[in-house]
Amino acid sequence: MPDPADGANRYPVRMNYRHAFHAGNHADVLKHLVLVALLQALQRKPGALFVLDTHAGRGEYDLAADEAGRTGEAEDGVLRLQRAARVRRSSAHDGEQQVLPQVLLDYLDALRAANPDGGLTVYPGSPRLIAHRLRPQDRLAACELQPEEAGALRALFRGDARVGVHQRDGYQAMRALLPPKEKRGLVLIDPPYEAQLAEFDTVLAGLRDALERWPQGVYALWYPIKRRRELARVWRRVQALPCKSAWKAELLVRRDDSPLRLNGSGMLLLNPPWQLDADLAPALAEVHAALDLGGGSWEIEWLTRES
Ligand SMILES: C[S@@+](CC[C@H](N)C(=O)[O-])C[C@H]1O[C@@H](n2cnc3c(N)ncnc32)[C@H](O)[C@@H]1O
Repeated sequence: MPDPADGANRYPVRMNYRHAFHAGNHADVLKHLVLVALLQALQRKPGALFVLDTHAGRGEYDLAADEAGRTGEAEDGVLRLQRAARVRRSSAHDGEQQVLPQVLLDYLDALRAANPDGGLTVYPGSPRLIAHRLRPQDRLAACELQPEEAGALRALFRGDARVGVHQRDGYQAMRALLPPKEKRGLVLIDPPYEAQLAEFDTVLAGLRDALERWPQGVYALWYPIKRRRELARVWRRVQALPCKSAWKAELLVRRDDSPLRLNGSGMLLLNPPWQLDADLAPALAEVHAALDLGGGSWEIEWLTRES
């Protein structure tokens, strides 16, 4: 009898998405920049953290592989950012210690850690970035539904007792694994949006349920932006969630006037750590300057503030 909580067989036809085609694109840059900054902020306190990565992917991606080469998305994303950062550093005046914002330096350091031989051929996905930062007291549960991706993920973390890999539906995992025994932690939700805007119905139901059971958890949701105005209704629904504070950080690399392409993306944060928005802002400005293809923008907007 299959475990009803295990969603491995529930999505046989819809699962076309492969992150290898998109790894290191502008959306990954935004998502992972925020993720690294979030972990950094949460780890200012020594208490153990639980991190749940609901849609984990395969853990790392080869930017020299056929999939990445066919789309060239990393070229306009992380590789472009890395070149821009190099130019900014080399043009710094003598005595100017730090030209790049700390949050951006931390993200670039995390990329370097995945590429110890130099260069940037391995792009670390969310579970690898999280695992890299785990302290001995912290724990990661990484969920991935697609069998091949889940297999690669399991192989990547074999022998690391702090990381549990689950081939299961990430939304079901939220119900099954929250609240965790640790008091503090983060849930990262990064679905492929194959259901387009309807994915938000599932996400918001999952967030409401999770907040009721684990109100002090921090929640981060990545979302795509084609036309920004189509998301206004979603933000009104977020404002009705039972959380103390919420803001979203967005990066657009083009004008948001075409429904056909990914013009940008955002990260919605519920219960974010104090000051994270201020720490992130200069890094977002820098990333936008490096990745803009014409008509793009960035912003951080509060949706709910603790009164
Ligand atoms: C955008 S990718 C994840 C990328 C990863 N979070 C990262 O940042 O490196 C989305 C992943 O979710 C997986 N997926 C799709 N539906 C899922 C579900 N219901 N539960 C868990 N994983 C799912 C897909 O196979 C895909 O690998």
